[in-house]
Amino acid sequence: MRRLLVTGGAGFIGANFCHYWCAAHPADRVVVLDALTYAGNLASIAPLIDTGRLRFVHGDIGERERLAALIAAETLDTVVNFAAESHVDRSLEDPATFLRTNVLGTEALLGAARDAWGAQALQRGCRFHHVSTDEVYGSLSASAAAFTESTPYAPNSPYAASKAAADHLVRAYGHSYGLPCTISNCSNNYGPYQFPEKLLPLSILNVLEGRPLPIYGDGLQIRDWLHVSDHCRAIELILAHSAPGETWNVGGSTQDPNLTVVGLLCELVDRAFAADGALAARFPQSPAAAGRASRSLIQHVRDRPGHDRRYAVDSGKIRERLGFSIGTALAPGLESTVRWYLGNEAWWRGVVSGEYREWYARQYAARPPDG
Ligand code: NAD
Ligand code: TYD
Repeated sequence: MRRLLVTGGAGFIGANFCHYWCAAHPADRVVVLDALTYAGNLASIAPLIDTGRLRFVHGDIGERERLAALIAAETLDTVVNFAAESHVDRSLEDPATFLRTNVLGTEALLGAARDAWGAQALQRGCRFHHVSTDEVYGSLSASAAAFTESTPYAPNSPYAASKAAADHLVRAYGHSYGLPCTISNCSNNYGPYQFPEKLLPLSILNVLEGRPLPIYGDGLQIRDWLHVSDHCRAIELILAHSAPGETWNVGGSTQDPNLTVVGLLCELVDRAFAADGALAARFPQSPAAAGRASRSLIQHVRDRPGHDRRYAVDSGKIRERLGFSIGTALAPGLESTVRWYLGNEAWWRGVVSGEYREWYARQYAARPPDG
């Protein structure tokens, strides 16, 4: 039986992890710590809070003493750190916020675990798992081999640099103080509860509301899409079987350009409207409501500065050593994700604040159509 502190548990992946973990490990204690930034939404974990399945604590990972006291008082033996600023475009506007949470915050959380667990952390079976990204490895050329755990770090955005710094600190806490740590570097996740600033939910909601679909540059950048449920299972495997000090790459083994993935989403929405007449009444602004192709909304816009061209993750190590495999391939994963957003309108209307809409309008005013 584990007693977990899940930081960032009100965000996209953290919330999915809480649902996954509570269902798979009903006897475990789960405490969520989240600062509830614009990306954190209690609605994503409300059923777990309301049924007493987990305890929610509002707080910042930078509060070392408070977190050490929480870990000690709750006798927590496992930290899974999802808390972060996670959007590359925002990191280009305001790197300092990313350094505060992703670097200094992670260091404070490591310190809190060390304070609470003391020198016997390893013997007591404690574990600090840090959730990181493939973006620490930088950008791949079209023909380069996928990232492995030994690919040198070469982060290109302030977001990626802040995550790389955090990874180094986790490693250093393991090396210098014997804190039992593991790290996973995963590729782009998608699925339920993802905040609409990221490409896939942004595209689904823009199609439903008849807004342009902004494709940065030529749209031929490649991401390796991983369904969030597969990511949760990978973390479960790591917590169960990995020795401390190990790092694990987790990818979805897909290699599709953004334009292809957005085109696929458009087709899925068109098909959903064709199959369910009620959708046209619910979303009258969508081209699909008038029988037009959703992909007519695609608009190439000014590229992201320093945009990484290609990510691809080699998951060979976790596959071979921990038995990981992909449970949700891209096509069915996208279909179920579209269905989830269609079925959870109250959730996405609730998380999109006026502040976000203003940010979005500013962001895309600064990205005029390309060419
Ligand atoms: P998210 O932006 O959806 O959620 C982040 C959560 O962290 C939010 O609930 C937010 O309120 C909370 N948070 C932010 N600052 C905090 C602070 N100082 N103290 C406590 N809580 C704070 O992010 P996500 O997409 O769920 O990503 C989770 C983790 O996975 C991040 O570490 C991210 O770098 C990593 N990751 C994400 C992806 C992806 O595709 N989404 C891919 C690779 C790695
Ligand atoms: P994003 O979801 O922001 O994730 P990341 O930058 O961490 O990979 O973006 C995924 C890809 O989609 C990336 O190549 C940037 C591109 N993109 C667009 O073309 N248009 C958009 O509006 C957004 C948000 C992203």
